[in-house]
Amino acid sequence: MKKTILTGIRPTGNLHLGHYFGACQNWLKLQNDYNFFLEIADVQALTDNFDNPEKVRKNVKELTIDILSTGINPKNVHLFIQSKIPEIAELTVFYSNLVTMARLYRNPTVKTEIAQKKAIFGNEGESVTYGFVGYPVSQAADITTFQGELIPVGEDQLPLIEQCREIVRKFNRIYGETLKEPEALLSPTPRIKGLDGNEKMGKSLGNAIYLADSEETITKKVMNAKTDTKKIKKDDPANPDVCMVYYYHKLVKNENIETVCKECKGGNRGCVQCKKELIQKLNEFLVPIREKRAYYLEHPEEVKRILDEGTIAAKEKAQETMKTVRNSMNINYEEL
Ligand code: TRP
Repeated sequence: MKKTILTGIRPTGNLHLGHYFGACQNWLKLQNDYNFFLEIADVQALTDNFDNPEKVRKNVKELTIDILSTGINPKNVHLFIQSKIPEIAELTVFYSNLVTMARLYRNPTVKTEIAQKKAIFGNEGESVTYGFVGYPVSQAADITTFQGELIPVGEDQLPLIEQCREIVRKFNRIYGETLKEPEALLSPTPRIKGLDGNEKMGKSLGNAIYLADSEETITKKVMNAKTDTKKIKKDDPANPDVCMVYYYHKLVKNENIETVCKECKGGNRGCVQCKKELIQKLNEFLVPIREKRAYYLEHPEEVKRILDEGTIAAKEKAQETMKTVRNSMNINYEEL
């Protein structure tokens, strides 16, 4: 029996190289060997964007096409939209009794995100909603509705998996052994840096290369990427370790990486030449992704069919889980 993998992604923007190397590449490796559920977490995206539902709506389609363009095979992966499975919301309500407010406020992921919000919106406790503070509970429901055993995530999500495990243990203790305790499957790639050298590539930081970027956009972005600021002239020796162009050469696995490094250190490599080579490498890397992207853009009916089939598989699993959950909780009124 294949183990079950579940992971989710919020539809708030297009996929960039940070997503690709941080998450998608790992999904591609795992997709043949597991029973894989991949959730487009539109309900979770609304915790941050409840006042901008059009944005979430638009990004569900964009993200689905981006995911498929990376080579995710819908024959292996059940791709579905969270809101199509209301069982998740039902389970969230049941779990909400098993979690204290204090525990939620102590969750490091929630804590960091509240601090970020306060930095933007000021020190108004009111700006933090019940749905936002409670999203770890809803994420625990995402995972357990599908009896997910392995959960591929980045490091920032580890506290959410831990909280999910606590909820599962408490549920099983109170209502009897019902749910599987999931395990995090930490991404082998650490966080991907931005074009500007920032530790994180992100939309709001304006330092991302998107899978959907055209050749022209790639050229413009790479030409502005951060290099060794101490290098002034073309033949100055430089330090590749502080250069984003070198960093991306490594990321796309340039086979001449040693030459790039040696020439850079020896002052035998101008930044313009080096950037041009990177642009070519990035475009080579993006060719198959662009081809698939164009295909799915031209075949929206196929994208719809993939989501419909993913939803059917997800629904089946969700109903099976909810049946055992309701039984364990004595919520069974088929007979009085
Ligand atoms: N919170 C995750 C993120 O921001 C997305 C997510 C939603 C998720 N549901 C999930 C991740 C379930 C793992 C499991 O990236």
